[in-house]
Amino acid sequence: MYKALHQTHLISVVLFLLIYLIKTIFLLINKNEGLAKFTKIVKIPEMIISLLFFCTGIYMLTQIPEIKSLMIIKIVTVVFSIPIAIIGFKKKIKVLAVLSLLMIIGAYGMAEMSKKQRPKALRGFSESNVNGKEIYNAACIECHGADGNKEIMGADNLNVSTMDFSLRIETIKNGAGEMNGFKGILTDEQINAAAVYSETLKK
Ligand code: HEC
Repeated sequence: MYKALHQTHLISVVLFLLIYLIKTIFLLINKNEGLAKFTKIVKIPEMIISLLFFCTGIYMLTQIPEIKSLMIIKIVTVVFSIPIAIIGFKKKIKVLAVLSLLMIIGAYGMAEMSKKQRPKALRGFSESNVNGKEIYNAACIECHGADGNKEIMGADNLNVSTMDFSLRIETIKNGAGEMNGFKGILTDEQINAAAVYSETLKK
């Protein structure tokens, strides 16, 4: 469910940006007639895409266990870019149209950066602590749950995971899908300890 909606969100973002980019180009090269025609053609698809984008975005927000500061900045940026775009296209103010496009692109850069932000539970967590359970409880529990079967944000059920140890280390280090990598956040020893602990959750 989460994965499918996340995919839908990404696809709607790409389509949305594409429509937006074409409109901005029309505006920048002073093809106002072309812009009017294009706007008319994409009106309904654009409404559907925007609706999908918002609904999936809101659903995903309700699923994120910890909303990081950069994520909040991202959402505020996206929300503010909308009136700027509307005014920009209505009044044909090129600077505003470009600004709103840059804001949306920047927002996605921020979302990517927020993945590298240290989770709250790990702030002040000692680097010398290599107790697998404690690391798991601080770093993994929010998505995988204490027993490994919570499956938040499309997380794999660790009770039934058949992933081998080296791939497990790789996944924890570099992340996969909505799981952020822990390289640079946990030490190699801590990643190792978390991987060992995660295997004990197999049933
Ligand atoms: C933000 C949520 C989140 C956090 C935090 C998180 N995971 Fe994950 N985890 C996921 C998701 C989502 C997947 C599925 C990734 C994919 O789409 O392939 C996953 C997959 C995995 C897998 C692969 C299982 C398999 O069979 O494919 C392992 C192992 C794993 N996580 C262990 C951990 C460990 C250990 C930690 C803590 C150090 C952790 N995870 C923290 C969300 C999270």
